[in-house]
Amino acid sequence: MTPVKVGLLGLGTVGGGTAAVLNRNGKEIARRAGRAIQVEVAATLEPNRAKELGLDIGITDDAFSIVNDPEIDIVVELIGGYTLSKELVLQAIENGKHVVTANKALIALHGNEIFTKAQEKGVMVAFEAAVAGGIPIIKSLREGLSANQIEWIAGIINGTGNFILTEMRDKGRAFDDVLAEAQALGYAEADPTFDVEGIDAAHKLSILSAMAFGIPLQFEKTYTEGITKITPQDVEYADELGYAIKHLGITRRTEAGIEQRVHPTMIPKTCLLANVNGVMNAVLVHGDAVGPTLYYGAGAGDEPTASAVVADIVDVVRAMTSDPSNRVPHLAFQPDQLADIPVVDIKEITTAYYLRLCALDQPGVLASITKIMGNSDISIEAFIQKEPQNNAKNVDIILLTQRVKEGNMDNAIEQIEALDVTCSKVTRIRVESLK
Ligand code: HSE
Repeated sequence: MTPVKVGLLGLGTVGGGTAAVLNRNGKEIARRAGRAIQVEVAATLEPNRAKELGLDIGITDDAFSIVNDPEIDIVVELIGGYTLSKELVLQAIENGKHVVTANKALIALHGNEIFTKAQEKGVMVAFEAAVAGGIPIIKSLREGLSANQIEWIAGIINGTGNFILTEMRDKGRAFDDVLAEAQALGYAEADPTFDVEGIDAAHKLSILSAMAFGIPLQFEKTYTEGITKITPQDVEYADELGYAIKHLGITRRTEAGIEQRVHPTMIPKTCLLANVNGVMNAVLVHGDAVGPTLYYGAGAGDEPTASAVVADIVDVVRAMTSDPSNRVPHLAFQPDQLADIPVVDIKEITTAYYLRLCALDQPGVLASITKIMGNSDISIEAFIQKEPQNNAKNVDIILLTQRVKEGNMDNAIEQIEALDVTCSKVTRIRVESLK
């Protein structure tokens, strides 16, 4: 049988990894797919890139020539971004080609439109590499867990952010220094603010949420908070209280709707997720039948991400001759069965909180704070007051609260910040037990 012909759009970190894995494991992969897979051509703006990678493939600087080439069966989009990549992917679909992409931003923002078009044209769009790099979380949600009502998902889904938090905690390294290393290692996004401000994790979470609950992709409704405001002090206090701070994506089915939120989260140090370090990702999925399941692996990097891209190519090759109506649906649920469940506003979520504030060291301060908490129906779980440093007049006060609606907590924080005796904004970190 003739080989399946692949065109790569992009020959950067993941493109290079994909070509390398297909070259190295080609025979084994062909035994699995049932046909050889051949990279015919790659689009890159660096004319020497293929030579540098030792690849014997065609090169072009015109990505559209690949999506319009009748010889190409599968287009693998590894350019990133969501303007040019969207045009290319839609054109490839229009031309009846199957698409594999690692582009979470593209799927999160334009997936609804792309999948509708793919459905019309009877082609597949596979995107395993878009979430948690090499971890087969899309396949697990879409196929392995299809018996379950998914109750919630909590995941470390940005390797760069996890790498930064781990290095800050373990080695006391400065934020910018670790970020620069993540960029050099090819983990970080082209715009690293996507990593540290939580946007990349929000892209991925909105994909997980849609697939878990059978709702359309709704990236714009994801509450997103990054890691830039986490201080070494918070990391230390969390540790003292028995917690680790992790940047989590959390999605949960509640009576009010679907929670979809990305933010730094304190979780018990004994949790498996709390022990996921460096660039590693992990996704904890709770299904009603199976209970908790945990998926762990490299969330970024050339070959780990290529592992997911190539697995998608194999899936596409296996299903190419199948009737499109018998294929696994893009978002796990049949497209005409997507539910209209609302995504709840962050003010409506209920969680526990860590609060840190600086206050004058004088009588009555604690009473004022606890009075506000009591009036707002917030129960305090633990409390630490640090001794003033070097005869300073201010002290750090740390509170752990029980679960309360975010809206109540917003009101309480506003009142605490308005007290004459507080001398800083209140730092708030949500606390989850993940039970
Ligand atoms: N910038 C992403 C991360 C790459 O650090 O996780 C993988 O999506």
